[in-house]
Amino acid sequence: MTRKYHIVGNWKMNHLSQDIFSFFAEFNKHADKITCHAGIAAQGLHLPLIKEHAPKGGFFEFGAQNSANNNSGAFTGETSPEAIKDLGCGFTLVGHSERRAIYGEQDALLNEKTLLALEKELYVIFCVGETLEDREANRTEDVVRVQLDEGLKNIPADKKSKIIVAYEPVWAIGTGVTASPQQAQDAHAFIRKHCSEKLGFNGEELIIQYGGSVKPSNVDELLACPDIDGALVGGASLKPADFLALCVAASK
Ligand code: PGA
Repeated sequence: MTRKYHIVGNWKMNHLSQDIFSFFAEFNKHADKITCHAGIAAQGLHLPLIKEHAPKGGFFEFGAQNSANNNSGAFTGETSPEAIKDLGCGFTLVGHSERRAIYGEQDALLNEKTLLALEKELYVIFCVGETLEDREANRTEDVVRVQLDEGLKNIPADKKSKIIVAYEPVWAIGTGVTASPQQAQDAHAFIRKHCSEKLGFNGEELIIQYGGSVKPSNVDELLACPDIDGALVGGASLKPADFLALCVAASK
């Protein structure tokens, strides 16, 4: 089965409005070269700007980096999945390792966020991945298994197709060290098998993105792996030329 790759940029807490204008002024000039799915996850404040300036061709989606476990009410500082959807976002990230490590978000909360975002018809890019310590202690599969089992609990059967899993080894995020294609492929194959055999996903259709120091120089070998369906990209998504190169590589 041939599937389109999914390349999503995670801008994290970067860029000012002028950077966004110039990013899309450059990126959009070459948008006709892109046939994969592409998207950007940005700070909430920037989403309306992206909506205004991003390519309108239908291949491009914008989304949030985090989404609350409540839809409305007295939750100062949170962003509601309902508001994310209302703005026209297609997706939200849930469980990025920076949310887990810096903000202490745990599996049960991430599960609530996932369920509520799905209820609002958002796609959820659910991030999992092990630390270096876990990998060195041979615990990669155990850690990822628990993240999947707990975070993707109780998902209604008709919503499972709205989950994208992003495998992001923590030791590869923002470090310049990428998992080797074999390390990434092994983890992706495990995730696909576990999600289909134990969690009731359609393994053939599940999109699994790799994240962790993806750049134009290593994207081809990663995408060539049979179980890698795209990439979640931090640093290299900030520059239009690099992000474009990744999208073009995924459009071949
Ligand atoms: P990186 O970030 O590409 O800068 O390693 C990936 C991510 O955090 O999603």
